[in-house]
Amino acid sequence: MTRHFLRDDDLSPAEQDEVLSLAQQLVTDRYGHQPLAGPQTVAVIFDKTSTRTRISFAVGIAELGGVPLIIDAQTSQMGRGEPIADTARVLERQVGAIVWRTSGQVRIEEMAGASRVPVINALTDEFHPCQILADLLTVRQHKGSTAGLKLVYFGDGANNMAHSYLLGGVTAGMHVVVASPAEYQPDAAVLAKAVEIGGVTGGSASWSPDAFEAAAGADVLATDTWVSMGQEAEAGVREAPFVPYAVTSDLLAKANDDAIVLHCLPAYRGKEIEAAVIDGPQSVVWDEAENRLHAQKALLSWLLAKS
Ligand code: CP
Ligand code: NVA
Repeated sequence: MTRHFLRDDDLSPAEQDEVLSLAQQLVTDRYGHQPLAGPQTVAVIFDKTSTRTRISFAVGIAELGGVPLIIDAQTSQMGRGEPIADTARVLERQVGAIVWRTSGQVRIEEMAGASRVPVINALTDEFHPCQILADLLTVRQHKGSTAGLKLVYFGDGANNMAHSYLLGGVTAGMHVVVASPAEYQPDAAVLAKAVEIGGVTGGSASWSPDAFEAAAGADVLATDTWVSMGQEAEAGVREAPFVPYAVTSDLLAKANDDAIVLHCLPAYRGKEIEAAVIDGPQSVVWDEAENRLHAQKALLSWLLAKS
């Protein structure tokens, strides 16, 4: 059966652990693991802009012995409205896997539904699961493990990062709190799913309107832009409600002394995160960015082995 990775809970807790353990092995054995040798080609399609995702998939596929085929959707027939399922039918006969950054989750579900090769979500409006694998790997590296740790995400609770922290974090046994304005709360179904997974893993998921209360006892603090791709027209209104949720030195002081700070990047200093925090000693954002490479190499290897 073809395995896809469209949202964080597409991997069970045991499967997520396998992928993260392989990712950690690949940190030290970067060039010795070549399951794409042959080579197999992997299509990486972008409907939205990207720096980290584009680079890490291109480099990672090459390091696995494969050929990355980076496609800007606007310069393909997808940009002129060719059906998603037709695109999948063409790609699946020539590539080993399809990686796609797009808008609605329904679009990537449609691609996966029509594809016999694995489809990987490289960010949708609803989820960013590859990023969370990298973040969990970073937490493992700095904290030794993830189970039982408290991770608090501050900012837009309704965006892709908030949803993926909820699902991916509880899958890893973490206690995940999303601190956001009431009008930007997580999707109720996603929060409920995270609570359900927490019942199995020993983790938990919740929402809080109070950033400082949520920060108390945190092991990991995370944030993201207040204006996600596709929301540029709302930039004017997407500032004032989020100011109390900015990750500042004062907020960080409420967390555990050895807390680490994550940001998927790109970061907007002085908005969602203070410069002194992202550029300070508790920030691990550059490890986090590097870990996109290792986590995605492990994910691709794992999905292709299982499919
Ligand atoms: N974090 C992340 O996905 O970055 P890019 O948008 O640059 O790919
Ligand atoms: N929430 C952000 C993440 C960027 C990596 C966005 O969707 O633009």
